[in-house]
Amino acid sequence: MMEAYDRFELLINDRIVKTPVAIASMAGIVDAAYVLERADHVGAAFIGGYSIDAPTLEASRRMAGEGRKEFLYDDPLEALGREIDALKQSDVVTGLNLRGSTPASFAGVARAFEDAVVYEIDAHCRQPAMLKIGCGEYLLRHPAKLVEIVRALKAEDVTVSVKIRAGIAADDAALARTVWKAGADILHVDLMDFGHNKVRQIRNASPLTLIANNSITTFDKAMDAFSHGADLVSLARKSDPWTLAGLDAAIARSAEEGGWYNAPKQLCRGGDIRALAFCCMPVKACPLLPALERIGLSRDDYLKFKQEAVKETPIEDGKSTCFGSLAWCCKISSPCMFRNMTLEKKGLSAREYMRCKHHLAEKIMHRIFDEEESADESS
Ligand SMILES: Cc1cc2nc3c(=O)[nH]c(=O)nc-3n(C[C@H](O)[C@H](O)[C@H](O)COP(=O)(O)O)c2cc1C
Repeated sequence: MMEAYDRFELLINDRIVKTPVAIASMAGIVDAAYVLERADHVGAAFIGGYSIDAPTLEASRRMAGEGRKEFLYDDPLEALGREIDALKQSDVVTGLNLRGSTPASFAGVARAFEDAVVYEIDAHCRQPAMLKIGCGEYLLRHPAKLVEIVRALKAEDVTVSVKIRAGIAADDAALARTVWKAGADILHVDLMDFGHNKVRQIRNASPLTLIANNSITTFDKAMDAFSHGADLVSLARKSDPWTLAGLDAAIARSAEEGGWYNAPKQLCRGGDIRALAFCCMPVKACPLLPALERIGLSRDDYLKFKQEAVKETPIEDGKSTCFGSLAWCCKISSPCMFRNMTLEKKGLSAREYMRCKHHLAEKIMHRIFDEEESADESS
């Protein structure tokens, strides 16, 4: 597992995610047995959706009566307990995709299973029977209730994911910020037809662990999501063992070669905010300046912050580079004789260089979002 941590440096619920490929829930289909058959090729799985209280169980029964597949049982905690136990033998980080009619229902499940799993709020379901009782997509149109559920779960000190369908809330980026500020840890987004622009928009709005979903069945599609800000990709309909195995292998190979599996595109090529790690000093009119303005960082603060952030790291110096430090150098895929000469002189491989840039990007994200949160708390 340490090898996997080294490759992706990805943790969820304080556990190592061995590959950034997840199974997304499908009611009546994705349970422990489904995940165990695919466990070699996924790092995380969201089983369910499970209805967890009387009104949602009643809605599930109605939906099943109309021909939909649903998980039906009399005692939700007993049924969920069995699924969680079955998955304990695997190294797949498990999440429960849940539909409940009140915040207290969610909190009750979290009290029963504590930190054994991630609790995913299903704000995605659009079945009329669920919407009628204030569940699923209803929460995207009534974010105050979604916030109450996030808070109720966080009061139990557990890891919380919110599963959404893009394009339903009034503003997806604003919704991401709202659930982040309420304490959520993960946003799991069914992108529908919105593509990577939506991933970037959400990445730039919050530091949440971001799972991109919908038709991400090939390496190219996964890389498109990763290079715009996704931390994981998830699959539902095409989560067959062959597709998952192919994706896992291709992503692992690319991470081994590249050093940073979800490295952003450069800012000037449409990259997300993490790409500040590749930007040079602000010396000309370029997309860096409006980006700094949007995040409220002055030129001076940006300069000082990056200089400070690379201190005592392998990318601190770089005499033969344009600005005297590898902190200001671009992505390894952009050709640059000066950067490559410097790396060679220092004995720093392309992979190690990209890992250093990854760590720099993490510091940038902390600086942007942690400071904003502490400013909020003090106001
Ligand atoms: C049969 C079926 C059942 C689903 N049930 C759920 C569910 O209970 N909860 C949920 O959040 N999403 C549910 N989804 C949505 C999927 O998790 C996923 O967001 C969607 O299928 C798009 O991803 P894909 O292209 O990889 O299938 C369901 C999808 C299908 C096809």
